[in-house]
Amino acid sequence: MSWSHLVRTDRGAGNGRAAVAPSLLACDFAHLADEIAAVEREGVEFLHLDVMDGHFVKNITFGPPLVKSIAGVARTTLDTHLMIENPDRYIEPFMKAGTHVLTIHVEASSDVRRDLRAIRDLKGRAGLAFNPDCPFDRVEPYLGDIDLLLVMSVFAGFGGQSFIEGSLEHVRSAAKLRAKHGLTFAIEIDGGISPETAPRARAAGVDIFVAGTAIFRTPDYGASIRAIRGA
Ligand code: DX5
Ligand code: ZN
Repeated sequence: MSWSHLVRTDRGAGNGRAAVAPSLLACDFAHLADEIAAVEREGVEFLHLDVMDGHFVKNITFGPPLVKSIAGVARTTLDTHLMIENPDRYIEPFMKAGTHVLTIHVEASSDVRRDLRAIRDLKGRAGLAFNPDCPFDRVEPYLGDIDLLLVMSVFAGFGGQSFIEGSLEHVRSAAKLRAKHGLTFAIEIDGGISPETAPRARAAGVDIFVAGTAIFRTPDYGASIRAIRGA
């Protein structure tokens, strides 16, 4: 996939269209292949896979075997969001399972630069995520080493939570520094994204919208995806 079309430049908002990454966490797992096909028919750019370990976050979801099964049926870029402690132990298994973009949490890694490098060494796109209460200073040193910055707009761990408005400040800081230093990472936002919250996130500088509930818990996935994507 081409990355550059997702990233806006300092020409400002509206340069290129926003991308959508449906979070499979909210889909019907008994019909996983059908759910994937349904959102892919609507032209989504990514499938967002939420991996939770019961330690870094309370919840537990799935591991590399399921990612591998998804990779076997998906035609879209796999965007895997690791909400796990010591992600270094699992970078290789998730890459080998077919992940294209692998995101770790800055709060969960003991050596962020090493882990980002490990993802890129395995030909992945490297993403860095941080929770709403994590100071922006924690991610700032790595902005030159990532392909994607994942701004959490809820606390990682569960789908269906309410959007935290203050997280837009993180998006604005990232967009400002990206323009200032001519960087190329994409800005992704995750949590509470809906047709109501997406426009404000877009205006703040978001390139990629993750949405679970607002897509899979609605009757018309296509209409929801178009509404989130906006113009
Ligand atoms: C939260 C996950 C999200 C979540 C989003 O820890 O990272 O991807 O599934 O869910 P919604 O869109 O329902 O807020
Ligand atoms: Zn996620």
